[in-house]
Amino acid sequence: MIDRFSSYSLLPHNTFGMDVKAAQFIEFTTVEDAISIAKELGGRKHLVIGGGSNLLFMGDYDGVVLHSAIKSVEVVGETDDSVSVRAGSGINWDEFVAYTVAQGWQGLENLSAIPGEVGASAVQNVGAYGVEAGNFIEKVEAISLLDASLNVFTKEECAYAYRDSIFKNSEKGKNVITHVIFKLNKKPDFVLSYGNLKEQCEAMGGVTAENIRAAVCATRAAKLPDPAELGSAGSFFMNPVVDAVKAEELKNIYPEMPIYPAPGGVKLSAGWLIDRCGWKERSAERVGVYRNQALVVVNLGGATGKDVMDFATRIRESVKEKFGVEISPEVNVID
Ligand code: EPU
Repeated sequence: MIDRFSSYSLLPHNTFGMDVKAAQFIEFTTVEDAISIAKELGGRKHLVIGGGSNLLFMGDYDGVVLHSAIKSVEVVGETDDSVSVRAGSGINWDEFVAYTVAQGWQGLENLSAIPGEVGASAVQNVGAYGVEAGNFIEKVEAISLLDASLNVFTKEECAYAYRDSIFKNSEKGKNVITHVIFKLNKKPDFVLSYGNLKEQCEAMGGVTAENIRAAVCATRAAKLPDPAELGSAGSFFMNPVVDAVKAEELKNIYPEMPIYPAPGGVKLSAGWLIDRCGWKERSAERVGVYRNQALVVVNLGGATGKDVMDFATRIRESVKEKFGVEISPEVNVID
């Protein structure tokens, strides 16, 4: 089924709570629908959205917004150790995680309570508590918006890296993802490296996928705003990676500064850097940083995309001035 709307409010489709409209909004429920939409698009300006949890609209969108409502889940392969699950791109991410945990399939439990949908997880390579979605993605099925053909991307072709994939680079805007195939564990192989996840689980009676999920949900609820109450796009900035010399220089001045090993250098905590610049105490009229996590820029009510970007620029400049480190947005800014 295909639903088409004109001059459509995107307010329920972006967690930042921007009150903007799309010239056209098209939602579809099957692969065949996605193929006919790709055929009719004909080079028009377009944007594929998921749950809108990582977008910042700068104003009305004068093109076509496409949204998948494909919600099937099926097992497409199984061994003694693993199960391959093909999930529709329009499934709510956390409902999918809850389902996999309930089936006894492990891997995604650390990624509990992340807003958004399955398709976007494969674009954004969502990550939290030591795990990234890309670790478990086997294949991504998409329809090309250039020629309406079926494109199947292997894990390697997806080129997953920190909050990055081929869909944010050479394939940007060229596909609509219909399904993501995840390879999940049937035997326990938990990641407990983050914070006190292990202790939290032990306090709940032991390390199980259910308890990891409960601990992660509780941690996120304490640290991150609920988009239903306070508009945001989760982390506004990415954690910056600097070279070892720069990290050492900063560590000498700020011994308490958190650092993490990362490909290509040392990862710093953008939240910590922003916090130390005093941003939790400062806000603009309609924009601020979240009281429990400075990495999250919040819409205090009625903010525009420009308000948010102006505020974010001031944050970037102050971090650059105090620490000599560039931080860049994680959110996708849509003009
Ligand atoms: N910190 C502060 N002040 C703050 C925020 C953080 O001092 O206001 C310090 C913390 O005390 C901690 C360190 O900075 O020592 C790291 O903070 P946290 O554990 O909250 O993680 P993060 O690096 O700030 C990343 C992800 C989050 C994810 C968490 C947990 C990015 C951009 N963000 O945040 O992802 O939930 O790790 O794994 O990588 C998201 O992408 O929307 C998101 C929420």
